[in-house]
Amino acid sequence: MKKLVDLLTFELENAFEKAGYDKQYAKVTLSNRPDLCEYQCNGAMAAVKVYRKAPIMIANDVVAALEGCVCIEKVEAVNPGFINITLDAAFVAEYLKNMNAEEKLGVSEPNKVKTIVVDYGGANVAKALHVGHLRPAIIGESVKRIGRYVGHQVIGDVHLGDWGSQMGLVMMELKRRQPELPYFDESFEGEYPKESPFTIEELGEIYPTASAYAKENEAFKEEALQATYLLQNGHRGYTALWRHIMNVSLPDLKKNYSALNVEFDLWKGEADAKPYIADMVQYLKDEGYAREDQGALVVDVKEDTDTKEVPPCMILKSDGAALYATTDLATLVEREKLYQPDQVVYVTDKRQEMHFEQVFRCAKKTGIVRQETELKHIGFGTMNGKDGKPFKTRDGGVMRLEELVGDINDKMYEKIIENRAIEEEEARETAKKVGLAALKYGDLSNQAAKDYVFDVDRFISFEGNTGPYILYTIVRIKSILAKYVESGKEVALCEIQKAESASAKALMLEVAKFNSVMEGAYEELAPHKICAYIYDLSNAFNRFYHETKILSEENEARKAGYIALLSITKRVLETCIDVLGFEAPERM
Ligand code: ARG
Repeated sequence: MKKLVDLLTFELENAFEKAGYDKQYAKVTLSNRPDLCEYQCNGAMAAVKVYRKAPIMIANDVVAALEGCVCIEKVEAVNPGFINITLDAAFVAEYLKNMNAEEKLGVSEPNKVKTIVVDYGGANVAKALHVGHLRPAIIGESVKRIGRYVGHQVIGDVHLGDWGSQMGLVMMELKRRQPELPYFDESFEGEYPKESPFTIEELGEIYPTASAYAKENEAFKEEALQATYLLQNGHRGYTALWRHIMNVSLPDLKKNYSALNVEFDLWKGEADAKPYIADMVQYLKDEGYAREDQGALVVDVKEDTDTKEVPPCMILKSDGAALYATTDLATLVEREKLYQPDQVVYVTDKRQEMHFEQVFRCAKKTGIVRQETELKHIGFGTMNGKDGKPFKTRDGGVMRLEELVGDINDKMYEKIIENRAIEEEEARETAKKVGLAALKYGDLSNQAAKDYVFDVDRFISFEGNTGPYILYTIVRIKSILAKYVESGKEVALCEIQKAESASAKALMLEVAKFNSVMEGAYEELAPHKICAYIYDLSNAFNRFYHETKILSEENEARKAGYIALLSITKRVLETCIDVLGFEAPERM
């Protein structure tokens, strides 16, 4: 379905031509003066250069040519040359009816269905999931869902950090504690035990201990690095131990992600790139892309147009060890082989910007990906505490994700039982849903690249620009619709009618923006645009609700019209929160 702005632009194009002007000036946008009009066209001002006339004269000609246009109720030329448009209410109602008849509420199928890999999550195995993993999970999940809604084939890959130095650290710490284990016996040729030598709780403690010890003990640090190197080169005992670390960690990671309503199609990691590394390195050497630099293997990626220093992309360290860039490049080799993606989107901390710049350039330059493959990095900002410093626990430690989610749910629970009498179990379930909305909306409503303040008390508020406010609006609509159905009527039979009040018109105009917002959020990889939209839409709804007698309306046809409007508003809101990755309870 065509977007409302495009339909209007089309009308204006005809009018510009009819009045003797080029239609390239006919672009219509949302009004930035909603007090004056709903949409506007500023083309008359730009056309001045060509036609050498006062812009107001051009605008007047266009307005005259718009005479009789059915979608417009009122159009005015305003000094110095704005064209202000107010839409015809019946036309807007018709537009909403058409939206309502479509499964995707007016979002058109893409011209070409793209295969998109979204690489997000990026948890590091053997380390506890902490708040630093919140943003990639929340943002990536939403980017994935938006892409899918728009009609693309999107594959979500967690791309675990399962191959780095933390593995060596964990293994060597274990060796300190249990040197007798067969994994550390170089002469051991038998079968390694099937049982893991540690539980998830123990693993959670082993890594921080090892990491702290490595900071004060250089020899231990060296040993851990060496162990990582040996693991990467197929050491038998370490590979067996690595498998235990993976087997113990994965169920825990899955549990944590699923509590966030985050689901991956692929549970791959850096280690999966391993089989591709040797051939890739050989290829880079053979084709003359890679050169040696102080023993290391690098690919130059700087370009003449660079305004900042872009260092060469490091492929192998001087000791031959693979690096972060190596596994990312080899993963692209694998993705190319298995999925031929049209686009790969990475969601990480923005401090990794340079890494991705190097990797992307290297992949393009060397033909690891096709020239037309779009490689994108969404670099997000830091989640800060109220003190403006990176978010920490009260005692200054790194907060575990489980703890954070648990805290929010508890606070939400308190709020819910305070509000009304409700069964314990339902209150807990509701608290979980609303808590997740608070958390996700609190994050997603900020532009990803910006730092933001993690303010739980604000996030869980039922008022203001928050997740719970949006859910509250949906719940309110659900309750009205349920009462209507209880009175023996059917929502499905209702027809949207033309607005008779300013608040109804404003609500309808918000609803009508849905396709435009969704497509825009997809193109810009910007979930915050959906948040801003549903906040506006909720405000428009609540204003309408407060100003309108809905269920007590006596004219049945008019009442049915209101119900239809509520029903499409609910569909739009629910679709939006679904792509943001949360859902509304029945009551709250
Ligand atoms: N494990 C990495 C980290 O904790 C994130 C991985 C992101 N994905 C990627 N392909 N590099 O920073």
